[in-house]
Amino acid sequence: MKSEVMKRGFGSDNHSGVHPEIFKALAEANVAHVPSYGTDPITLRATDAIRKHFGEKAESHFVFNGTAANVLALGSVMRSHHSVLASQHAHLINDECGAPEKLIGAKVISVASQDAKLTPEALATHLIRRGDQHFSQVRAISITQPTELGTVYSPEEIRRLADFAHQHQLLLHVDGARLVNAAASLGVGLREITTDCGVDIVSLGGTKNGMMFGEAVVFLRPGQSGDFKYVRKQWMQLPSKTRFIAAQFLALLGEGDSEGVWRKNALHANAMAKRLSEKLQRCPSVRITQKTQANAVFAILPKKWVGTLREQAFFYVWNEATFECRLMTSWDTEPGDIDGFIEKLEMLERDQGAFSS
Ligand SMILES: Cc1ncc(COP(=O)(O)O)c(C=O)c1O
Repeated sequence: MKSEVMKRGFGSDNHSGVHPEIFKALAEANVAHVPSYGTDPITLRATDAIRKHFGEKAESHFVFNGTAANVLALGSVMRSHHSVLASQHAHLINDECGAPEKLIGAKVISVASQDAKLTPEALATHLIRRGDQHFSQVRAISITQPTELGTVYSPEEIRRLADFAHQHQLLLHVDGARLVNAAASLGVGLREITTDCGVDIVSLGGTKNGMMFGEAVVFLRPGQSGDFKYVRKQWMQLPSKTRFIAAQFLALLGEGDSEGVWRKNALHANAMAKRLSEKLQRCPSVRITQKTQANAVFAILPKKWVGTLREQAFFYVWNEATFECRLMTSWDTEPGDIDGFIEKLEMLERDQGAFSS
């Protein structure tokens, strides 16, 4: 069967395919019969691998996708009279079609932030009416690392947020759909930006870093997972052939002497974003709007050229009013993808003038 080839672009790291090492791991797991529903040896090895990265106390559970990871992570520690605080840019708020509100029944409260990063100061204004029976009670803070605007929290910033959360009897959840990109950007391991900072629960992604599908909910403190396994089943996220998610995580995170592909893939995607950002910065018609700290570049591009540029390499217009665009790189972005895009932009600037309207 010949598949339709989609042009490579900067639409999303979800647009890229599966890393060959991960495909190989899937094929290697595709032998014999093993027990189902997470009781197989590959799943046990993958949960060990996750403990290696997050610490001995980490308890992990696999699910099919990132929305489920977020909703289940929060759903297992919240009740319907609770609320969770998240940045106005959070995936949880904008891209989960109300799943947290529908399934947990709780409120998701949007906190204003320029660069999609939360601070204790911004959160403090939402800690009101505690104990008031008329008001949804704040139970958790959810941050995204790296953020939806491609910015990265430092370990110190996360530690401050965890301390703030715990001082106020709240839990800190990290949407880590791209946690590996943040760790690679900071030059640290996964535990240095989670467990060691006092984070309570992580939604750990792999799909954007070369997996086919599958995410993990990782509880970092003992006794917090509560009724997770029952709720996961009720919410239809218990994979019967869990070994195929687990095998991908093993190839991603490594085990024994193998380091897995996560850091290599993430460093590459991040480096490609840096290259794109630096080259865009030199184009007079472009204004970079966010720091490029992971694998996404945010920039205002001339509205009149967006159509032509998208024909060269697709990207999303993030803000229809300002024409701020998101250009995202992936583990398989090639320098030539970037150079071709920049050549097109420079050609438009040359032919039509960088500031013509
Ligand atoms: C920040 C963030 N969180 C979570 C997800 C996971 O979403 P999905 O349910 O599509 O796997 C995504 C996917 O794009 C994301 O960007």
